[in-house]
Amino acid sequence: MSGEIELRNCTEIEEFRACLGLQKEVWGFADNELVPLRIFSLAPKIGGQVIGAWHGDALVGFAFSIPGTRSGHAYLHSHMLAVKSEYRNSGLGRKLKLFQRDDALAHGYELIEWTFDPLEIKNAYLNLERLGAIARRYNINQYGITSSPLQGFLPTDRLIAEWWLKSKRVESLLGGSERHAFTEEMRIDVPAEIYAWKADPEARHKASEVQMRNRQRFLKAFSAGLACLRYGRDDSGNGVFVLGRWDEDWSYGSK
Ligand SMILES: CC(C)(COP(=O)(O)OP(=O)(O)OC[C@H]1O[C@@H](n2cnc3c(N)ncnc32)[C@H](O)[C@@H]1OP(=O)(O)O)[C@@H](O)C(=O)NCCC(=O)NCCS
Repeated sequence: MSGEIELRNCTEIEEFRACLGLQKEVWGFADNELVPLRIFSLAPKIGGQVIGAWHGDALVGFAFSIPGTRSGHAYLHSHMLAVKSEYRNSGLGRKLKLFQRDDALAHGYELIEWTFDPLEIKNAYLNLERLGAIARRYNINQYGITSSPLQGFLPTDRLIAEWWLKSKRVESLLGGSERHAFTEEMRIDVPAEIYAWKADPEARHKASEVQMRNRQRFLKAFSAGLACLRYGRDDSGNGVFVLGRWDEDWSYGSK
């Protein structure tokens, strides 16, 4: 790979068309489950974001968000983050999120939320450890069972990542300072084999068992006021959510 990758806000219809194409490539959704071109072109006009990562003329990643409100506060809901497979694991996903944060702050937002699959070890690590999001809400089968093979035809249970852009947690993490300590109260583990189990129809029941077991744990933990604050990975690729109480009071309510 040679040449710089440039990140910028998309404004032209051909740029939105490229996002649509990359969305198809990354998720493999059936056409009727894709976010359509018209929504990509609408989003930046109503306070949302379509941020593209370009390698020359080729779109190699994008972040897409739409505006929301809760208890009278405007925030961004980041619906998709995608990096073309050959460009993964070199920090581009994180760069897109940091660009998204700067752009959001420049427009007066202090919160970006997104949903993520608690079975996806890599995403959880990026969200909690590298970006400083927290998670304390859980939606059961949020999108129904979808056509994307990435989702293994399981119920689309989702954690909600809350990225409080001006919180001490996020500012100190991104500024390279030491993390604030907390008392660990619970751990929820995800085995490294989860990707293989999701992809294999014969083994999918094992992924489903982990999902059901963890669903109960998350629901119990969140109703007791705990939040996912850290995420660990071991040498074999297993992941673990570490839960405790968040000591900052950023909140727009829970609905
Ligand atoms: C999620 C996604 C956008 C991340 O993009 P990316 O450019 O690969 O991400 P980055 O390289 O910035 O960071 C990923 C982090 O996870 C780490 N990682 C890589 N593979 C991993 C794995 N199998 N398990 C755990 N962590 C992993 C990377 O090392 C990196 O951490 P580091 O910065 O400490 O090295 C990309 O994988 C993707 O497009 N996935 C498919 C679509 C998707 O699931 N999108 C998110 C939900 S909308």
